[in-house]
Formats: sequence, C-alpha cells, structure tokens
Amino acid sequence: MRKFLVFAPAAFLFVSFAALSAMHAVAQEVAQTPPMGWNSWNYFAGKVDDKGVRAAADQIVATGMKDAGYIYVNIDDTWEGKRDENGVLHTNEKFPDMKALADYVHSKGLKIGIYSSPGPLTCAKFEGSYGHEEQDAKMYAEWGIDYLKYDLCGFRQIMDQQAPNDKAAQMKMMYEAYVKMGKALKAAGRPIVYSFCQYGWDSVWEWGPAIGANLWRTTGDIRPAWDSMYTILSQQEGLQGYAGPGHWNDPDMLEVGNGKLTPAENRTHFSMWAMLAAPLLAGNDLPNMTPEIKQILTNKDVIAIDQDKLGKQARRVYSEGEVDVWERDLAGDATAIAVLNAGSDRYSTHPFHLSLRKLGLHGPLKATDLWSGKEITLTEDMPLEIARHDILLVRIGRSK
Ligand code: GLA
Repeated sequence: MRKFLVFAPAAFLFVSFAALSAMHAVAQEVAQTPPMGWNSWNYFAGKVDDKGVRAAADQIVATGMKDAGYIYVNIDDTWEGKRDENGVLHTNEKFPDMKALADYVHSKGLKIGIYSSPGPLTCAKFEGSYGHEEQDAKMYAEWGIDYLKYDLCGFRQIMDQQAPNDKAAQMKMMYEAYVKMGKALKAAGRPIVYSFCQYGWDSVWEWGPAIGANLWRTTGDIRPAWDSMYTILSQQEGLQGYAGPGHWNDPDMLEVGNGKLTPAENRTHFSMWAMLAAPLLAGNDLPNMTPEIKQILTNKDVIAIDQDKLGKQARRVYSEGEVDVWERDLAGDATAIAVLNAGSDRYSTHPFHLSLRKLGLHGPLKATDLWSGKEITLTEDMPLEIARHDILLVRIGRSK
C-alpha cells in the first residue's frame, strides 16, 4: 500500500484554484475541532443494525459521553441494500427506515453518519456509489445525514481496469472520484462532514483538504492490539503540519475497550489520539462498556487536549530507548507532554529521565497529570518510572 505514497500530486493541479477555495470554504464550516462520536465498525462490523445504532445513541447520552463532546453516531459498512430500477439505493433488512433512525438520533441532540464507496462495491461487498454519486448524496441529505465516510475499496478495481499499470493515471482517477462526491455533497445543500478513507495513498494529506476533506485516513486499518495501535501512532510523525481546524489527519477509529488491550494500553491509545488531534470515534460496545473504559473515554482533561482550538497536532520530540516523548502546543501558551513506554520487556518500567531542555522548556514547571488529576512539578532531568505500555500525560498551563 505504502508504495503509492511516492506519486506526487502535481498531476492533480488542473482543478481551478477558485473551485478549490470554494470547496475548502464549505469544508471549513464543519469539524472545526476533530469530530467526536462513535462508529459501528470496530466492534460490530457486519452485525450493526437499527437497534444497535439506537442503543449506541442512547448510551452516548446516558453515559455522559454526549456531555463530554461525543456527537456523531456513525453507521459504517453493511447498511446497504440494492438499487431499484430508478437507481435509488435502498437499505437492507437490518435498517428498515433510515430517515426514522436519523430522526431518532437527532432527537437525542446527536448527529448521524453513514458510509459509502466511490466504487461499485464497498469493502464488505455491499453496494457502493459508483455512477450514483449525486443521487446518493441527495438521499443522504434528505435522510438528514451529517457525516460521510467515503472508502476507496471497490474503486480500486475500476482504477485497475481503466488504467492498468499506470499508477499516476490511477491516482488521478482516485482524486477525481473524491472531488465528484465532494461536489455532490455540496450540491445536496446540507453541511456534511466529509471523511476520506483511502488509507493515506498518494500523500492524501497534501491534496485532501483542498478538495474538501475534513479528515483523511493516514494508514490501513487499526486492530485492537498494541502493535497495530503503536505502528499507526509512529506513522503519524511528520504529518503534524497538515492538521488544523476543518481538516484533520485520521489515524483510524478508537479501539479503546476492544480486544485484549490492557488498562495502560487503552489509556495510552486514548491519550495519543488526543495528542494527535485525531477524530475521537469510539469503536466499542457502548451498552456493555465497563466503568473503567467509560472513565477513559470521558476524561475531560484529555478530551480538552484533543479539542484544543489551536488545532495543532503533536510532534515526537525525541525517543530514548523505548520511551517516546511527544509535545503539543495548546491555546493560551499551554503545552501538553506525553511520555510513553513502548517497552517490549513485560517487567521493565524503563527508568527514564525526562529532559525539559530537549523540549525547549526550563524547570521547575507546574503541571497537571491528566490521568491522576494531581498537580506535579517537572524538573530538569526528572526521573520517571512508567510501566510498560503506559503513559504520563501532563498539561502545563491552564485549560482554556
Ligand atoms: C475498510 C475501512 C474500515 C471499514 C471497512 C468496512 O477496511 O478501512 O474502516 O470501514 O472497510 O468494510
């Protein structure tokens, strides 16, 4: 997959700048901070249905997640049925009435998202939007959809068929497919968050924002395992310049509460997605969430880092052994620092000295530990003991 990244987006500069800035202006109205909500895929995959989506919406309200900022309830793949003779796409038996479901989600003060592909088929081989972009966008707007995740998937087959062995031509086709749906959404006249999912191909962060992307996946799919989460995290280094209000790097949805992630791993995953100004889309089984997972997902101080209005994504300042130190600039001259132990040795706490100097800071500095809630003082070359896969996340300076 990564080999596609070498193709320069120069071939795409044929779109007029006036058209680009008009699309960009629309994109800027939504997602001024990284979108927060829930998505069905990571836990339910093909089992998502109307009942499950309503239950998720209910739980977002009941658990306090809505108050903490989680607003989008996003249906991923497998809601699609077949097209009728007029090309109108119907839902399948799991979703008897999408408009009624959208009304229900809206009645809770939440927003609703949906999923499609520019290809004839989605990743799970359901009906995609190929050749029906305007029709589908109009239908989403009529249903009251607020968010579209548009997943390349089946379109790769069209690229292969129409431009075999010509990667540059294929990338141009991909670009045009995203432009096409962007225009269709705009013409449909409803503010809809536009989420690109094409796994970071062709350095999407360089051209996605100009054609209306509010967020774009930067990698392949996440799995609920430390290695997957940490690999994706490491791949975000260098992309920090591309994120900002209205347009965000998307390292994929949260796996907090899924699989066998330990409490430390769940904390680290959530902390680092907040440092990355990533969309915070919970991907767990909300009705059966444990109090510990709820506590992680609703940590308001960590969410405040993610949603900070400057919108500046963190950068990795340095690594020493298996300890990584990340820094994020926050509004009001505040700073967040994350120190994480990626250690492979189960028993090691990696005794480690945090260098404020390397961070361009001078101790002593008062800071808040965002997981214990305690005030601490950071000093130069401060010895820290952080358990394997755990994190120290601190904020220096007041919350705004
Ligand atoms: C792709 C995406 C996933 C999910 C599935 C659905 O793999 O990257 O996030 O949407 O498709 O089929």
